[in-house]
Amino acid sequence: MGDAPFLDNCIGINRTIGRNNASHEKSNSLAQITVLLWIGQRLITKPSFPITSRKNSMIRSSLMYFFSAIVCLSSFASSSSKRPVQAKHGMVVSAEKIASSVGLEILKEGGNAVDAAVATGFALAVTFPQAGNIGGGGYMVIRMADGRTTSFDYREQAPAKATRDMFLDVNGHFLSSKSEQGYLSAGVPGSVAGMLDALEKYGTMKRDQVLTPAIRLAEKGFPVGAGLAKVMNEKWREFKLYSSTMKAFARKGKPYRRGDTLIQKELAETLKRILKDGKDGFYQGKTAELLVKEMKKGGGLISQEDLKAYQALEKPVVEGTYRGCDIISMGPSSSGGVVLIHLLNLLERYDIATSGFGTPRTISLMAEAMKLAYADRAEFLGDAGFYPVPVKKLLSKEYADGRAALIDTVRATPSTEISHGTIPPHEETETTHYSVVDKWRNAVSTTTTINSWFGSGIVVGGAGFFLNNEMDDFSGKPGTPNQYGLLGGEANSIQPNKRMLSAMTPTIVLKDNQPYLVVGSPGGSTIITTVLQVVLNVIDHKMNVKEAVDAKRIHHQWYPDTLFFEHKSLSKKVAKSLRKRGYNVAERTGSQGRVEAILVDRKNGILYGATDPRGHGAVAGY
Ligand code: DON
Repeated sequence: MGDAPFLDNCIGINRTIGRNNASHEKSNSLAQITVLLWIGQRLITKPSFPITSRKNSMIRSSLMYFFSAIVCLSSFASSSSKRPVQAKHGMVVSAEKIASSVGLEILKEGGNAVDAAVATGFALAVTFPQAGNIGGGGYMVIRMADGRTTSFDYREQAPAKATRDMFLDVNGHFLSSKSEQGYLSAGVPGSVAGMLDALEKYGTMKRDQVLTPAIRLAEKGFPVGAGLAKVMNEKWREFKLYSSTMKAFARKGKPYRRGDTLIQKELAETLKRILKDGKDGFYQGKTAELLVKEMKKGGGLISQEDLKAYQALEKPVVEGTYRGCDIISMGPSSSGGVVLIHLLNLLERYDIATSGFGTPRTISLMAEAMKLAYADRAEFLGDAGFYPVPVKKLLSKEYADGRAALIDTVRATPSTEISHGTIPPHEETETTHYSVVDKWRNAVSTTTTINSWFGSGIVVGGAGFFLNNEMDDFSGKPGTPNQYGLLGGEANSIQPNKRMLSAMTPTIVLKDNQPYLVVGSPGGSTIITTVLQVVLNVIDHKMNVKEAVDAKRIHHQWYPDTLFFEHKSLSKKVAKSLRKRGYNVAERTGSQGRVEAILVDRKNGILYGATDPRGHGAVAGY
């Protein structure tokens, strides 16, 4: 059991960048040009544009050509390219092109990474309504150029009227239909409080600067892209259950198609109230009234008092090290940072670089570590305000030593033989990610969610935004898995005003005490293992950031006792070898995660951005 300890130094290990120096990406993919031409055309043809006579139509078309030229020259690329996008000054990588370009504009106007992150977040609430949100929650990890680190926890929380057994029927059976969909599935939203608190404390711009782009996009509309059209179609049956959702997200009673213009007037009005009154524009007054009215339509629990009482929490980041790099990430109520750092502590002792990417040995080392870490997650992690989460112990190298002694490097240990570690009680005490780095090298890593695509499926009537279905992230019945198959216990049971446990893992890796990798992903229970593999790919496998993001992934979460792999990621030979080691190996349906990452090379000052080919994101830099 166990191998000789292998510790390398983050400072010397990465030779990634050298391989990419030639890769200055100037994307001119058709989709991007279409979007930007469309924006250009709308700007040029809108009534206020100062060219109205027929004679001037030539000027108009010249402007269109000018606009396309700018598009071709800008450093702005989507997932189709094989190399990272480079930029010198600042960069935004998000799940959606228009939102990335909104963040980029803020950086160009002199805003810092926090300003750009908040502007991108509000823009995603408009252009990426399947996961971007003001009706959900999230986490923001910040590392300021002067070395300060902090995080904002704006996770949703259970309404005050929530009860431990609210999703059990009279026979004590767990009703996933209620925790995953509809009125009871919604937690009290946190995104507006979190983004505005972060802006006020660490941003430099006023609310109107970061909110105006989102308001414009909601008011004037934007072209529905392929990804949004697809998920809207998939969720159509759910949309039809709620009149408010149909009012806001149906086009003449039918689903929106690619290329249609999605205008969201009610959402624009809600955003204007936030612009005018700040957090009160959401948590009090008309927006709060509309939200509570919507709740009353379907027996939901969120009250005016819940909204008024909601607070985003600024918290210290959780910290660890991996091969000489510093890792900063999100602590509870997310499990992401704690489990990621524990996994890195477990894996640091093996020479992953030599065992190599995608080999049976590397995969089984990761899988064994994942099983141990997810067993601990189920037992120990929950909202630290309600349960004494042993954070320090779980993050420590010593605790990892004890757990690592259980790792068999040759054969799979069945999950039934794996349990959580022993920690003395009461130690003291469809989601989307975006990464931003600015010209001062402030860095922001944000993951936000309404849980499933379009959350609960319910749009708040008159206010135009989707409500989350985050209540399903609680352990509605300890021992019964949630929609991601995750198990949980007392630590994550439902209690009034408690935040449900998350797997979101917004992370910043530091090298030489400077931001090196800004990374995160959606993907429910797979978020942590996805972020882990990107970190290993960069640090151990010396991939460039685009290769690290594109590379195929595996996942194990203890239960089910299955090693999941992505389509075409394991050769027959590797799969056979893993089966021989005792793994139940299965191809997952669909892909794993959608990473948005930035790597900073301090030697040449270049930012390298990568968006995941599994999604439709975009890197925007200058
Ligand atoms: O907070 C969590 O862990 C989940 N609600 C995240 C959901 C998610 O990533 C869905 N997107 N694919």
